[in-house]
Parts: sequence; structure tokens; C-alpha cells
Amino acid sequence: MATALITGGTSGIGAAFARALAERGHDLVLVARNADRLSEMSTELKEHYAISVETIVADLGVRDEVVGIAERLTSVERPIDILINNAGFGIRVKLTSADTTPHEHGIDVMIRAVLILSAAAGRAMRERGAGTIINVSSTAGFMTMGSYSAIKAWVTAYTEGLANELHGSGVTVTALCPGWVRTEFHDRAGIKIGSIPDPLWLDADQLVADCLRDVAAGKVISIPSKRYKMLITICEHLPHRMLRAVSRNLTSRRH
Ligand SMILES: NC(=O)c1ccc[n+]([C@@H]2O[C@H](COP(=O)([O-])OP(=O)(O)OC[C@H]3O[C@@H](n4cnc5c(N)ncnc54)[C@H](OP(=O)(O)O)[C@@H]3O)[C@@H](O)[C@H]2O)c1
Repeated sequence: MATALITGGTSGIGAAFARALAERGHDLVLVARNADRLSEMSTELKEHYAISVETIVADLGVRDEVVGIAERLTSVERPIDILINNAGFGIRVKLTSADTTPHEHGIDVMIRAVLILSAAAGRAMRERGAGTIINVSSTAGFMTMGSYSAIKAWVTAYTEGLANELHGSGVTVTALCPGWVRTEFHDRAGIKIGSIPDPLWLDADQLVADCLRDVAAGKVISIPSKRYKMLITICEHLPHRMLRAVSRNLTSRRH
């Protein structure tokens, strides 16, 4: 049975991927910083699904620790068939803030780590002629809401480039672009969610089921739910200055 490595597999979207893949009988490698939560998640998955779970405590903001995971991804004896670059967080800090470290941390975790891990997995999977890479991006990447939007725009564009590079190799590459999903994400970033209308919230389990269907269909960009497909189609057809104005309005309501 295939093995999947999921970064940020202890909470929210990553945990939903872990449960969905465990249900299909896949073995898992989970990566996160909090050792206790990794151990709890591992116990839950092993008890419920009778799969094997390996855990790696690592901070994806630290380059050497990312390189360690890249080495695990290229292991010949214990191959990884599915990589899900999911770990990430919201950045609610102004671009003109004197302290730019939250933005830099976002770039380290959501860009540099995705780049290093996808490169390692892509090489190993191409050699075997099979594999799946899912990079969790965001619909925010279609907007212009600070560094988070810029980072996720990079993730989506990068994923499309990687899909082109691996085209025909047997390796599929997909950018998952969720809208608002009920997870710990907003609390952790201190984002006010009161103004977000109920119908715009997505359920993590449903999101993951939709994404896995898109992956099986060979889609390079997965935008789960009819609501968000429609909203993103509108965004893509709006004059760009209007998209900036909408983004400005949404950003000011969240600060
Ligand atoms: N929720 C949404 O509305 C939404 C919408 C669009 C896109 N997304 C994207 O979806 C992905 C998952 O977010 P989520 O909503 O599921 O958030 P979440 O519930 O806060 O989960 C984040 C996960 O990432 C891990 N993580 C965070 N920083 C890390 C680091 N430096 N090194 C290693 N692991 C780290 C966390 O574990 P530890 O804290 O233990 O490290 C946790 O397992 C992110 O890329 C996010 O940008 C979310």
C-alpha cells in the first residue's frame, strides 16, 4: 500500500488528509512541530485504521530540518508515494511593519520548504515513474491581500510549473486552493472571522474528498466547492484594479 508524507498533519486540513488517506489504507508519515500532538494523532490513526504511522518533529522554518525531511522523501528502501505540502499559517502583519520576520517566516515555511520538499519528492517519484504531489495553496493567491496572497500565488504558479516539468513522467502535481475552511488557522493568526458569511465556510473533510477526486482526475488546480469555483471565475474576469479594491476592503475588515 502507498505511503503519504503530510506536513502539518496534526490539525485542520492536514489532519483531514491524514484520516482520508488512512481510511484508504495508506501508511503515513506526519510532520509538525508539536511532538505531543503528533503522538496523539499517530495513536488515533493506528487504532482506527490499522495502518503504520511514522512521525517527524520538525520546524519547516528551519532549513536544515527541511533538508532532513527531503532525505526521508528520497529514501529508496522506504519510498514515499504521496507528498502533501500542507503546513502553513495566516500572516496578519502589515507589509510596512518595522518587523518583517512574520513575512520572512511565511516565505520560509510556505515557499522554501515547499520548493525543497517538492524537488526531492519529484526527483524520487520521477525515477519510479509514479507519484502524487499536492501543494496546499489558497484562493487568497488569486487576490492581493498582503504577503499571504503573494506567497500562495507563488505556490499555485510553482505547482503549475512543476506539473509541466513532470508532465508525462507518471507523477501528478496539484495545487489545492481552498477558500475559508474551519480549522485552527484563523485563531492562530488572530484573524477576525465574524464578518465571514456562513455559506463561505468549507468543511475540511469535504474539501479533502473533493481534492482527492480532482487529483484522481489529473487536475493541476483544485478549487473545491461550486461556490468558490464561481467566485474565482469572477475574480479572473474582473478588471485587476477592481480585484485590488475588493482585496483592500477584505484586508481592512480583518485588521
Ligand atoms: N483554514 C483556511 O481557511 C485555509 C484556507 C486556505 C488555505 N489554507 C492553507 O491550508 C494549510 C493548512 O492550514 P489549516 O487551516 O489546516 O491550519 P491549522 O489547523 O492551523 O494547521 C496547521 C498545521 O501546520 C503545522 N505547522 C505550522 N507551522 C509549522 C512549521 N513551522 N513547521 C511544521 N509544521 C507547521 C501545524 O502543526 P504545529 O503547530 O505542531 O507545527 C499544524 O499541523 C496552510 O497551508 C494554509 O495556508 C487554509
